[in-house]
Amino acid sequence: MNPTITKLNNTFEIASYLAHKLDKLLHENKRPINIAISGGNTPKEIFKHWVSHFKDEINWRNISFYWVDERCVPASSSESNYGEAKRLFFDTVLTTQDNVFPIVGDNKPREEVFLLNSLVKSKLPQKNNLPVFDLILLGMGTDGHTASIFPGQLELFNLDEAYTTSINPHTGQKRITLTGKAINNANEVCFIITGSDKKLVIEEIFNKSGNWQSYPASFIINDNLEWIIEEI
Ligand code: 6PG
Repeated sequence: MNPTITKLNNTFEIASYLAHKLDKLLHENKRPINIAISGGNTPKEIFKHWVSHFKDEINWRNISFYWVDERCVPASSSESNYGEAKRLFFDTVLTTQDNVFPIVGDNKPREEVFLLNSLVKSKLPQKNNLPVFDLILLGMGTDGHTASIFPGQLELFNLDEAYTTSINPHTGQKRITLTGKAINNANEVCFIITGSDKKLVIEEIFNKSGNWQSYPASFIINDNLEWIIEEI
């Protein structure tokens, strides 16, 4: 099935579009929903818009927040995907945060992966012996990486576990990430793409041209895959 391509004008429109998508999922499912969010800069912009314009519009309490990936750093670090989300969003919109399930960046990576895999096995519906997230929000780097699966790490698409460890080859930074198989196992996956520096990579992925086979983002395959792209 071909992915849906949605072009929007700015990060506010993207944040609004996603808020309505979450609201629709909450009403359709009539139960708490399980989503996994990525890190990087784009989510920070979206969190700011959600705080400003959707703080009281969405029942955030009924969403269980997991992470697509995390840098192996303390939550206090500005590098921490969870830490930034907490400071920018959760601390404002949630009075209690028992529906937030961070990857603990300063745990030993393999120990944290074990804990995470046990958590998502116990709390989420399962399919193909993997957790089923209702929605996964991905970003993509200019090298075509997604989650913390970088070029040259395509074996991370074939592991039979939800979370695993990886390394950012550009910096050597240890990471924890959902595997490609776990991402593809979701009910719905959305790429959120901002910035003008990813246009060529996206065209190569859509056209299966150039270096598309070296981009991990090319191998995100899902019946409900949507590319939400900021029109620059
Ligand atoms: C991370 C992310 C990563 C991110 C892309 C895009 O932890 O860095 O999960 O995969 O989504 O690098 O980041 P931007 O949104 O900042 O372009």
